[in-house]
Amino acid sequence: MKRIGVLTSGGDAPGMNAAIRAVVRQSIFLGFQVVGIRRGFQGIFDGQIESLDISSVADIIKLGGTILNTGRSRAMMDPAGPELGARLLAEAGIDGLVVAGGDGSLRGAEKLSTAGIPTVAIPATIDNDVYGVDASIGFDTAVNIVVEAMDRLRDTASAHERIFVIEVMGRASGAIAVAAGLAGGAEAILIPEVPVDYDLIADRLIKSRARGKRHSLVVAAEGAGGARPAVAAIASRTGFEVRMTILGHLQRGGPPTAADRILGGQLGCQAVQGLAGGATGILVGIYHGTPREIPLGEAANRKQNPDLALADLAEVLAI
Ligand code: F6P
Repeated sequence: MKRIGVLTSGGDAPGMNAAIRAVVRQSIFLGFQVVGIRRGFQGIFDGQIESLDISSVADIIKLGGTILNTGRSRAMMDPAGPELGARLLAEAGIDGLVVAGGDGSLRGAEKLSTAGIPTVAIPATIDNDVYGVDASIGFDTAVNIVVEAMDRLRDTASAHERIFVIEVMGRASGAIAVAAGLAGGAEAILIPEVPVDYDLIADRLIKSRARGKRHSLVVAAEGAGGARPAVAAIASRTGFEVRMTILGHLQRGGPPTAADRILGGQLGCQAVQGLAGGATGILVGIYHGTPREIPLGEAANRKQNPDLALADLAEVLAI
């Protein structure tokens, strides 16, 4: 192996830059050249490939977003895309590829690996729905952003004795909602993995108000329908004043937490070491605290569910 390419794909995730930095520095440490591919897989088709050296990644560890830009490539979704992509990568002298992204990116990585380019993927998505790993890069930062927002909303909710419904991202996963709901002390958490029972939630909110609670926070995952239907359902059942906040892309911005920087560093190095050792078609991750490799065929087609025991715990602690 002589030349390794790195790209970030799908929704950006805080800590992607830490992973790029690690890929570049570990590659150079092992004597490889490194190139960055811009705008996800699309950069392969558009020839947007540039050399990266040690100083190209200086000072990026603290940055959210991704210095390589990201995107969801149409060319890669074309049935002929992976074969063409593999040919273009080979013509650019790239004999190993690191892809950082979520489930769609894992599927793209698998296809390029099958088409003959040694490819290793890194889980990077705030959604934390990548199968078989403890955490995806970006999840911890997103959860901390939501918790900070909850702390702020609690103050105004309390002042006005209101209920706030806070909509969080996660696509089809309730992972952000569960973790942030527990850490932020939510009275109720709505997630796509568990049917939403508004009667039960309203009953709990009414009882807690009767016990003296002056405000409540409800976290609603976008995959569970989000904030709008929850506001209407809770207001009509309780008669309380209900407001909503949709946090949206705020959850993906800003400096990564220490945990995401560390994970980015670990997985960036693990990916390059995997390629150097002849691996292809794998996802690298940390599972129960230990580095792990999972075949992309398995990881890309399965979803990681949030820890429902944590959702139960949040319910008990919110009485
Ligand atoms: O997959 C990451 C994510 O932030 C999801 O949580 C969200 O549903 C989606 O991306 C938003 O996508 P976009 O940035 O294209 O609006």
